[in-house]
Amino acid sequence: MTQNAPPPASIRQAVFSDSRAIFDAHQDSVLNLCASAYTPLQMQTWFEGRTHEVHWPAIQAGQVLVAEREGRVLGFAGFVPGEVTLLFVRPEAAGSGLGGQLLRLAMTQAETGHDGPITVVATRNSQGFYERHGFVAVEDSFFVRGAAELRYEVVNMRRAER
Ligand SMILES: CC(C)(COP(=O)(O)OP(=O)(O)OC[C@H]1O[C@@H](n2cnc3c(N)ncnc32)[C@H](O)[C@@H]1OP(=O)(O)O)[C@@H](O)C(=O)NCCC(=O)NCCS
Repeated sequence: MTQNAPPPASIRQAVFSDSRAIFDAHQDSVLNLCASAYTPLQMQTWFEGRTHEVHWPAIQAGQVLVAEREGRVLGFAGFVPGEVTLLFVRPEAAGSGLGGQLLRLAMTQAETGHDGPITVVATRNSQGFYERHGFVAVEDSFFVRGAAELRYEVVNMRRAER
């Protein structure tokens, strides 16, 4: 380890009081790491009308993992049986292996009590990342955001092998 290497992030189940820090990391990740794949208007509208409360149901269900270092949330992942529902890493931590680590843990959780392939709805910018982790594109899709009902192109992906 080099002298100035940061300590590794620790990963734990998120609790309700994490929701503001998670939402802050969510915005940091999207606004900095998704901008190459979506239009400026899509980026402006991504979080329109949304607050940290958007993560309350998943946190309360015990379906969010949070990665932190020295009290700062660096990323988080969400899951339900059969699906990885959320995966966001702050730009300062991207490329260091944290996304892959969170994905593997979320997949393990998503496989619990589920028999069949794990799915993910991937942003356009993250399709290559999921392909490196064994997912294949199934079909193009979109989600809708904002009062103007803007469409955001995404890719439905599936990972067959266990
Ligand atoms: C996608 C994301 C989670 C990846 O996290 P990360 O911490 O940068 O990924 P890692 O460092 O673990 O990378 C793991 C591997 O994937 C590769 N990779 C990372 N991002 C990639 C991309 N966009 N396209 C292709 N490969 C990618 C890395 O090079 C690395 O490969 P290696 O193991 O051969 O070195 C992160 O870029 C992110 O949060 N993006 C913005 C939010 C987003 O779009 N999330 C997906 C929501 S569905």
